[in-house]
Amino acid sequence: MNPPAIAIDGPAASGKSTVAKLIARELGYTFINTGAMYRAVTWYALQQGINPSDTAAVKELLKSIPLSFGKNGSVSTVMCNGKVLDEELTLAEVNDNVSAIAAIPEVRALLVTKQREYNTTEPVVMEGRDIGTVVFPDTPFKYFVTASEEVRAARRAAQGLTDSIAERDRKDSARACAPLTVAADATVVDTSELTIEQVVEKIVTDIKNRI
Ligand code: CDP
Repeated sequence: MNPPAIAIDGPAASGKSTVAKLIARELGYTFINTGAMYRAVTWYALQQGINPSDTAAVKELLKSIPLSFGKNGSVSTVMCNGKVLDEELTLAEVNDNVSAIAAIPEVRALLVTKQREYNTTEPVVMEGRDIGTVVFPDTPFKYFVTASEEVRAARRAAQGLTDSIAERDRKDSARACAPLTVAADATVVDTSELTIEQVVEKIVTDIKNRI
């Protein structure tokens, strides 16, 4: 049996990265940002001049993609040819194209395998879109973190980032493979009216009561 896995899913700019990182710190678990993995494939494809909607070219690229997935302390990292990727991952062109790349089943299969590998040796808090539905469907710890579209747009703007979050959510929810949906057994946490600390406390208390 694997160590515990905490699944944190939700739409764009719902604050799930921030809360997932703090929950991981409180529990002493490793924090895994799966969005960064999809973003890294997108960034690399764009670097290579590949059109993200050219599925055949993206699939071909996967055979030799020089990305590796590791950790820095207890936080996941993505590297390209040994260099840690950071600001590259939130470029506007990555935001605009990541949903197309993430809709390709072969991309998802590759990354889901890597995501599950983290949990074979250690407990994880993993955030994304399909963690409770696809990556760890059997975990009893599933949280769907959301907020009103207005609040989410304001949060992203406050970060100074250009990001069509409504468009990304539409594409992520409509795709055939592992769409963004609430797992039947997930706890929905609407963060519109809550502080980060309140969200973290609510989820950590629930986990500690049940673990
Ligand atoms: O910036 P934000 O937190 O909204 O998104 P993210 O978690 O960095 O994810 C970026 C994009 O990657 C999403 O819009 C999805 O298209 C894709 N993604 C996915 O398909 N499955 C995941 N588990 C995580 C991200």
